[in-house]
Amino acid sequence: MKPLAAELTAIAADAFAAEGLPPEFGFVQISDRSDLAQFQCNGALPAAKQMKTNPRAVAEKIAARLKSNAIFAKVEIAGPGFINLDVTDNALVERAGAMAKDARLGAPETGVGKTSVIDFGGPNVAKPMHVGHLRSSIIGDCMQRLFRANAWHVVSDVHLGDWGLQMGQLISEIRHRGIAPVYFNENHKGPYPDESPVTMDDLEEIYPVASAACKADPARLDEARAATAELQAGRAGYRALWRHFVNVSEAGLTREFGSLGVRFDLWKGEASVDALIAPMIADLKARGLAVMSEGALVVPVAEPTDKKEIPPLILLKSDGAVLYGTTDLATIVDRVRSQEPDLILYVVDQRQHGHFEQVFRAARKAGLTGNRVELEHAGFGTMNGPDGKPFKTRAGGVMKLYDLIAMATEEAGQRLTEAGLAGEYPEEERKAIARMVGIAAIKFADLSNHRISDYIFDLGRFTRFEGKTGPYLQYAAVRIQSILRKAREDGYASASPVVRSAEERRLVLQLLALPDVMAAAEAKRAPSLLCDYAFTLAQEFSRFYSEHHILSEKDEALRAARLGLCDLTLQVLAKVLDLLGIEIPARM
Ligand code: ARG
Repeated sequence: MKPLAAELTAIAADAFAAEGLPPEFGFVQISDRSDLAQFQCNGALPAAKQMKTNPRAVAEKIAARLKSNAIFAKVEIAGPGFINLDVTDNALVERAGAMAKDARLGAPETGVGKTSVIDFGGPNVAKPMHVGHLRSSIIGDCMQRLFRANAWHVVSDVHLGDWGLQMGQLISEIRHRGIAPVYFNENHKGPYPDESPVTMDDLEEIYPVASAACKADPARLDEARAATAELQAGRAGYRALWRHFVNVSEAGLTREFGSLGVRFDLWKGEASVDALIAPMIADLKARGLAVMSEGALVVPVAEPTDKKEIPPLILLKSDGAVLYGTTDLATIVDRVRSQEPDLILYVVDQRQHGHFEQVFRAARKAGLTGNRVELEHAGFGTMNGPDGKPFKTRAGGVMKLYDLIAMATEEAGQRLTEAGLAGEYPEEERKAIARMVGIAAIKFADLSNHRISDYIFDLGRFTRFEGKTGPYLQYAAVRIQSILRKAREDGYASASPVVRSAEERRLVLQLLALPDVMAAAEAKRAPSLLCDYAFTLAQEFSRFYSEHHILSEKDEALRAARLGLCDLTLQVLAKVLDLLGIEIPARM
């Protein structure tokens, strides 16, 4: 099943070719003035410019050819040479019928034969996930769902932060506290205890203390640096202790991601490429790509065309410790080898853009990506509090993810009560619904903002059941579910949709736009397009619903066709919500 706009593009391209004009000018898109036309082709203007003739004359010739195709109900020239197009209701109905029968709902196949590694989430061992990781998780998860739906082979990787200075900070803090002396005893030949000396709660308490100690006291910082270097160099006790940190953190993180409905194919981390670092560095040195600079080993990545200074990528500090960029570079080596990807997409805070620029340049310079692998940073803006500064708890601390979800769940519960929803359901179910609504509110608010923009976290607004919110869309889906359930109870049949009214026509057109929107959201890495689409779809359904009888329609064939339209709308809405990672309650 080809997207309708693509089908029309093929027809218009033929018309341009038949006039001896480049067929690319036949590009047809969904009209941005839906009050004037369903589709538009603007190619006559650039074509005329290229041929040095009058655009209106070109448009007339193209329009004359298009008119002979029975798919069009209207072909009109507007302004200097825009071609406005409507298709017949028959054409719409045929395609809606085909879409209803297609399990993929006509999703584009942009990823056939292609693999992408998507790097997102990126929480750090021993630190609780905070809202900074929330955006990465929500946007990254939407990307992996969308890429998969568009037929990509996707390998998602959480890329745990488990090899940096925070490891040395924890180790030295534990040494100071004397909690687990065996890991520090250099005469101990192993083995080390199987049971972790610390729990996740311990780590969450220890880390901030350790980090504050290093900030306050340069000697403590030196100690933590030395411990990091020793850990990386392979000191057995430190490695054993580190393993425990990673294991307890992973268990906690898996639960947290689970509660968000986010899953990863790989749970690799910075440390997992440890063995690749030494050979990579030896190779870069041998080829003269890595050089010494102020005691550190670096890869210079500046280019003559740079407008601002791009510092070199540091591979090794003078104490031998590796840095964030070193593990990221080695991770590229690993991914290229093990996944043979076409694309590695990093969904990470926009503030790390400079870091990725350095890593990507170093990777390309060293030829690590061959000529096939594309490296791309899809950055995102900050979630701010009402004061316009990065979101914090009321006490000014870092907002933890589970506290945030609890807050959203509570707010959603209040909204449900205000709206008179789910009131008489069993307590368990009510709680589960509130949680689903709370998470939908957070996810939709996050995804509907332009990825790169900062936005203000406003739970009161996000959880409303009116307006462009996650809860509104969940409610819209639940409403259609209940119409269809009632229809089944009454034994009413459903049939392929028909178009008899303006509302039905607009709804069907919106449904048929799904593949285009999925393709555009992928191409621009823009979940917000899916959000806009879902909201418009729900609104079009609402108009259709308020203007037409459905269950109360006396004409059986018409009722069946309208139920078919409800059914297709639900399928499409559920699909888009699923791409956004939003669940639909069975009832509300
Ligand atoms: N752990 C990092 C952080 O908290 C994010 C990791 C992003 N992914 C990557 N390959 N660098 O900032």
